[in-house]
Amino acid sequence: MSKQVLLTGVAGFAGAHTLQHFLENTDWHITGIDSLEHAGRIERINQVLAKRDDFNERFTFIKQDLAENSTLLLDTHHDYIINMASESHVDRSITDPLPFVQNNVNLTLNMLELARQQKPRAFIQISTDEVYGPMYNTPFKEWDTLIPSNPYSASKAAQEMLAISYWRTYDVPVVVTNCMNMIGEMQDPEKYLPKVMQQIEQGSMVTIHGEEGNIGTRSYLHARNHADALLFILTMTGAPSMYGETTKPDKYHIAGDEQLDNLDMAQRIAGAMGRSLDYKFVDAHSDRPGHDMHYGLDGSKLLSLGWEPPLNFEESLERTVEWTMQHKEWLQ
Ligand SMILES: NC(=O)c1ccc[n+]([C@@H]2O[C@H](COP(=O)([O-])OP(=O)(O)OC[C@H]3O[C@@H](n4cnc5c(N)ncnc54)[C@H](O)[C@@H]3O)[C@@H](O)[C@H]2O)c1
Repeated sequence: MSKQVLLTGVAGFAGAHTLQHFLENTDWHITGIDSLEHAGRIERINQVLAKRDDFNERFTFIKQDLAENSTLLLDTHHDYIINMASESHVDRSITDPLPFVQNNVNLTLNMLELARQQKPRAFIQISTDEVYGPMYNTPFKEWDTLIPSNPYSASKAAQEMLAISYWRTYDVPVVVTNCMNMIGEMQDPEKYLPKVMQQIEQGSMVTIHGEEGNIGTRSYLHARNHADALLFILTMTGAPSMYGETTKPDKYHIAGDEQLDNLDMAQRIAGAMGRSLDYKFVDAHSDRPGHDMHYGLDGSKLLSLGWEPPLNFEESLERTVEWTMQHKEWLQ
């Protein structure tokens, strides 16, 4: 039978990709909530809905600030709740931490309260690799210690902790996912890939954090892969917190297939644009205190359960750069 899904942050970058992927690959109905006053853009939703006539019939949009409403009353029961809404810009969390952290904590509390009333089959709390702090040698595994470096990462760790407490106290079937850096169409121009593309387009120097021999590294995955991993988690059988008793809720890392340094990534972006790269190194710590040099997640748990990422890194990059070159308004 068709399922009801509640997706918060639907007008955000990853939210819109999740909406599209779920509409394309299921017959489910999606209710999407977004304030449109944070980083959400209604154009993202419109682009998705324009892809197929029947998408409109399986989608309901609610404009609401989830942090303000202490109780969210929804008549429809939801089988799955995906809490993706968050303020997500690290720099903004550093310049003005109070409203930023309050937003991420309050909206999660409100969604968990809703889940407590609605008793969904699963509540997915979307989190990030940044909650672990910097990676030194080996990538983090699920349930490694969280040592966040900046208020954004701390607010995501707080979301995880609240969700886990609702799992233990109220039996909310929580699943926590941690993801690495996403790329894809319609990304906010403040993020690394569109920012590098913008600098290359303008003919300016691309700033690389670090120095020769010590450059920051990350892995990247397409937002569609992230959406596909969520769908896999919701539809696989035997996920413990949804189907039985364990000592912890489910937690899964969603990782990319290549760990790249920031210079390598900028060079690959320039290559995909058919352009050359002018760059300069800047000291990472003085330029961006609170930012971590290396992030890394071990994604083997999800792969061992049978998840196959739809796109590899090369395809993800090419698709993203090609689309963005054809839609340069998204670089503004
Ligand atoms: N983009 C990445 O690389 C990345 C990596 C790891 C984890 N994540 C996580 O994935 C999620 C989505 O990230 P994104 O890149 O799409 O971010 P985004 O900023 O594009 O989207 C977040 C959405 O949440 C909405 N929102 C924020 N506060 C709200 C509130 N109080 N009420 C209603 N809506 C609100 C915003 O309007 C926006 O549409 C976030 O939880 C983020 O922490 C993102």
